[in-house]
Amino acid sequence: MTERKVLIAGNWKMHTTLAEARELAGAVVRSSTNLVGREVMIAPPFTALSAVAEVLGDSRVLLAAQNVCWAEKGAFTGEISPLMLKDLGCGMAIIGHSERRHVFGEDDALLNKRVLGAMEQNLSPVFCIGETLGQREGGQTMSVLEGQVRNGLAGVVVTDPGALVIAYEPVWAIGTGKTASVEQAQEAHAFVRTVLADLFEKNIATQIRILYGGSVNPDNVDVLMGQEDIDGALVGGAALKAESFDRIIHYR
Ligand code: 13P
Repeated sequence: MTERKVLIAGNWKMHTTLAEARELAGAVVRSSTNLVGREVMIAPPFTALSAVAEVLGDSRVLLAAQNVCWAEKGAFTGEISPLMLKDLGCGMAIIGHSERRHVFGEDDALLNKRVLGAMEQNLSPVFCIGETLGQREGGQTMSVLEGQVRNGLAGVVVTDPGALVIAYEPVWAIGTGKTASVEQAQEAHAFVRTVLADLFEKNIATQIRILYGGSVNPDNVDVLMGQEDIDGALVGGAALKAESFDRIIHYR
């Protein structure tokens, strides 16, 4: 019996006008109404957070940002603080998404600051890790994941294991239509949990949720969610279509 509550998360990336965001958020609220025992989170772009927060109202859908700065306020042009996000109704923030790492050059040390800053303000990180195709083919997957977890979570003290989420997203599976096989995904998740057990305590590690991300869709979600150490999904493209996200939320 797992103590981990499933979390299905939609990362909207740099998509949606305000009108589109409101419509999609409304559909997610309707989809989630009768969902039992599962959490649903959406991460719209910063510009739509306020509008989406209004649509979510007191529904059960959780609101997340796609990034967060570590500082409460100050001279950080282009950044958004944990306090500002909480002000808008966000309870969570994606940190270290592969696009932040690879397109914007964010490294483990910077991401560690983001994680610590978010946690200090009670904003739950969804901390993303994942290997590139070259790293997988070079047999480095586990050492890359271990380094990302150890460096990204350095100094983290976990008091509530439900408030720290890890997302394993193999870079080669993001937006490519290629999903890791269930064996590859489960192997990576189980390995990450052993690293978490070493960093924290075993009983904490068994309670931290590890989501899988990378071309999750209505056709592959059931089998992915059947794996022991896969506690949810971080969905990109398929989260932008109300119908497919609805099917993913209601995986069997
Ligand atoms: P896709 O589901 O579009 O592959 O994106 C995955 C992702 O990056 C979610 O954060």
